[in-house]
Amino acid sequence: MPAFRLLALETSCDETAAAVLADGRRVLSNVVSSQAALHAPWGGVVPELAARHHLENLAPVTEAALGEAGLALAEVDAIAVTAGPGLIGSLLAGVQFAKGLAFAARKPLVPVHHIAGHLEAPFLAAEDEPALPAIALCVSGGHTSLFEIPARGVYRLLGRTRDDAAGEAFDKVAKLLGLGYPGGPVIDRLAAGGDDRAVDFTPARIKDPRRQSDFSFSGLKTAVLYHVRREGLEPVAPGAEPPRAIVDLCASFQRAVVESLVGRMVAAAEARRPRSLLLTGGVAANARLRRDAAAAAQRLGLPLFVPPLSLTTDNAAMIAAAATLAWQRGERASWDLEPHPQLALGTLDSPAA
Ligand code: KG4
Ligand code: ZN
Repeated sequence: MPAFRLLALETSCDETAAAVLADGRRVLSNVVSSQAALHAPWGGVVPELAARHHLENLAPVTEAALGEAGLALAEVDAIAVTAGPGLIGSLLAGVQFAKGLAFAARKPLVPVHHIAGHLEAPFLAAEDEPALPAIALCVSGGHTSLFEIPARGVYRLLGRTRDDAAGEAFDKVAKLLGLGYPGGPVIDRLAAGGDDRAVDFTPARIKDPRRQSDFSFSGLKTAVLYHVRREGLEPVAPGAEPPRAIVDLCASFQRAVVESLVGRMVAAAEARRPRSLLLTGGVAANARLRRDAAAAAQRLGLPLFVPPLSLTTDNAAMIAAAATLAWQRGERASWDLEPHPQLALGTLDSPAA
């Protein structure tokens, strides 16, 4: 049987991405055009700028993905697009473009949930598929959620952040300290040389006993702000060497974030006895998170799956992987598909094509 080839587009935040996947497993191309440098001067993503650049980038990025895969648009079997959650202007750019493409090329269109994409990345990356049920921690700039995956393509939400996402907390703290955007990689790098016990940040406690798998990072962000004011710390000037106090602050902040992330994952694993652990999303690049999650997995006697960077940060190959499962379930978008900025996982309606 000829391979089933799917072209996927992803524009939920500030990455314009297109990928071609064969049979839900073979990545024929995975092209990402990042706008990070464009948003850096503002210390965060500027939604209007992001949307405008998606409009400019979508055609060349799609052409590049098809070109690298060695395929013409007519040769793909279906087109998939992230329908939410994300920034509305960014999502609209991707959805409208995908609709136009699918309509012109007479291809079925598959709507995909962005987090389903992140959760499929570990399956796409692994040579031997993670055994189910799995506990998955999805941690990015826009989301921090814990899921149980009882079967392929089934995602049960166990907990999520009540305020900031973990990556957002990294970005906001970095902005406060004058460390630039995105904040995660620079805090990660500085923290490696700092004392993680220098500042006694305690992970947030969730009072509701039924929501013990939820996360909260806004209190920690405020604690960093108070510490900066109390100690009279100045933001680091561009290009300057950060002082010891800032390096230690980064290490202590990172420890508190990672303790809360890994702590919830371990508690969920102890309660639910999964057969594997998955770590995904942009923050999965964090060295301390990887190390502590690996140590926790070893203590629990469970395999831990962390995809490579190209599949953990926003990309369209993961969207194509989730789309292949959606395709197999018969999910198709109608021509009036609208993006949903707050889309909950599992709520995409799927009228027949
Ligand atoms: O998944 P992603 O590319 O986009 C979203 O869906 O949000 O994640 C981007 C986020 C940013 O907040 C960035 O600061 C964070 O991931 N990040 C990191 C690291 N690398 C990226 N956070 C902590 N440590 C890192 N090494
Ligand atoms: Zn993402």
